[in-house]
Amino acid sequence: MQDQRLKIAIQKSGRLSEPSIGLLRKCDIAFDNGAGKLRSTAYDFPLEILFLRDDDIPQYIEDGVADAGIVGQNILAESDCRLEPVEMLGFGRCRLCLAVPRGFEYRTLTDLAGKRIATSYPKILNTFLAKKGVDADIHSISGSVEIAPSIGVADAICDLVSSGSTLLTNGLREAETIMESEAVLAARRGLDGPAKQILSRLLFRIRSVNAARDNKYILLNVPNEKIAEIQKLLPGMKSPTVMPLAIGGWSSIHSVISEHDFWNVVEQLKAAGAEGILVVSIDQMIL
Ligand code: PRP
Ligand code: ZN
Repeated sequence: MQDQRLKIAIQKSGRLSEPSIGLLRKCDIAFDNGAGKLRSTAYDFPLEILFLRDDDIPQYIEDGVADAGIVGQNILAESDCRLEPVEMLGFGRCRLCLAVPRGFEYRTLTDLAGKRIATSYPKILNTFLAKKGVDADIHSISGSVEIAPSIGVADAICDLVSSGSTLLTNGLREAETIMESEAVLAARRGLDGPAKQILSRLLFRIRSVNAARDNKYILLNVPNEKIAEIQKLLPGMKSPTVMPLAIGGWSSIHSVISEHDFWNVVEQLKAAGAEGILVVSIDQMIL
């Protein structure tokens, strides 16, 4: 029965751990993830979750230890493994940057020519510098890259920046962005059989959860003579639901609106005469 499960690798501890676990839970997949756990079997979905170092995930997928995984695009780009990017997940947004000590007078990339740059992303950095025609000395290190300049082993670094607080506390500032990144669901190329089917089922749930995250359910009361005008503001999934209220001359309209322009739409609805506006989160949205 073991091979009837999809094995998915997620980051054991780090920026993507909590949102990755949160996403699976929102897909109604229940599992234990006690401290120190390396693998966990979901109770009600054919999934085996492996908790690994994010840098190792692509290789484990390619070797068949896992079938799929949730990793940053930065990890995929740095890896030599050719995996299938299945779905962008919209969390874990960050950027891979070149950063220099605050006292370093940085104007253009050529200021880094001949300098030592510490990074855990030698492949991406090398490609970037080669494309720009800048020759620098890349020092590949696996962790704590941000301290390299202060202990004198590098003049600059190339590392991930999310909030920017790591750079700030280490007296560094951003010089150049090399790539933007977010979490992605990736799978082994040519995945087939039960694993592929389970991946499709998981993907269906992930898309439903993410669509729901980006949308809200809205209910409002409108005078009947305003229905036409207000309907134009609310496209809905097919079209809005319009129901008469118990008092004459008024209706209730229900619809789905995008979270992105949600406040704009609400302002326009109010201006058009809507009252008693309720906005509700959606758990899943099946498209
Ligand atoms: C990155 C990077 C910094 C930190 C930056 O590490 O190496 O340490 O995040 O975040 P900040 O701008 O919010 O301070 P990551 O989470 O990828 O961990 P890892 O390198 O150990 O995998
Ligand atoms: Zn990492």
